[in-house]
Amino acid sequence: MSRPVVLSTRIPGLKPFATGKVRDVYDLGEPLLIVATDRISAFDVVLPNGIPDKGRVLTQLSAFWFDHTRQICPNHVISADIDDIIRRTGLPGIAEQRDLLDGRTMLVAKTEPIPYECVVRGFLSGSAWKEYKTSGTVCGVPLEAGYVESDKLPQPIFTPSTKAQAGHDENISVDEMRRRMKNDALAFDLVHRSVRIYVQAALHAAQRDIIIADTKFEFGLKDGKLIFIDEALTPDSSRFWDAAVYEPGGSQPSFDKQFVRDYLESIQWNKEPPAPELPEEIVSKTADKYREAYRRITGKDLPR
Ligand SMILES: Nc1ncnc2c1ncn2[C@@H]1O[C@H](COP(=O)(O)OP(=O)(O)OP(=O)(O)O)[C@@H](O)[C@H]1O
Ligand SMILES: [Mg+2]
Repeated sequence: MSRPVVLSTRIPGLKPFATGKVRDVYDLGEPLLIVATDRISAFDVVLPNGIPDKGRVLTQLSAFWFDHTRQICPNHVISADIDDIIRRTGLPGIAEQRDLLDGRTMLVAKTEPIPYECVVRGFLSGSAWKEYKTSGTVCGVPLEAGYVESDKLPQPIFTPSTKAQAGHDENISVDEMRRRMKNDALAFDLVHRSVRIYVQAALHAAQRDIIIADTKFEFGLKDGKLIFIDEALTPDSSRFWDAAVYEPGGSQPSFDKQFVRDYLESIQWNKEPPAPELPEEIVSKTADKYREAYRRITGKDLPR
């Protein structure tokens, strides 16, 4: 049995730091507490249903990848164990909600975030495919002719975007990122570490028949050091494809959200909020896909 679905959190005595589509972040002064809820979004709109275990899958997968890539870049994780978090913080508000927060919560070091999304792509999809189709370039860099949608790229490419405070993120070239950052060494470091993290993760996933088509990383600075922050290689920050059904020449089914998207398309929802309620069958099939992603990647069942 899965745990009760958590759609939102409120921890007595704690100050909200950010509330995203999926995660609730609290400011504890020095560290941050990141809580992944079971909220799900599709076509950029948060749906009314939660997906059982989704938040725990996101947090535990991030914890797995942060650990798996720690030799490439230090990361922000202090602890992902709720009892350890309660001990370290000594906060009664967290202890009171132990069971609800268990598995979905991470205590992390607060950094000064670098305002770029470090996107790495191994396959031609999404906005990169759109740009290539119209101009033969990806983030301004020409790519050979003849690729089809979802093709594997000859090597992973780094395609940054700005992290807009409001409105949509904007894709920019690496050169543009360098110019804006005014710090060539740091820009180089972002590219280099991002590509290495992607390659290491994509190789691991490929052995388990999951294609990580692309992903988005965030980094921050703490005491002058580069730290890998936010979430790491989850289905929310990456495109996961099932290698068993991969077929270039069109868009690929999303590993986790395909049932949801198919359902929303089938009822011809106009993609404007509010989103419609999902039927129970779609919810439970989707929950199974998240658990399967966790199982394939880590080789273990999600703890009960
Ligand atoms: N270690 C950290 N130090 C400082 N800020 C961090 C750290 N880890 C994550 N963040 C920031 O916390 C915020 C988390 O917000 P979250 O990703 O949940 O929502 P969002 O980015 O506003 O929206 P979306 O749901 O579309 O991603 C991000 O702005 C991220 O940069
Ligand atoms: Mg975010």
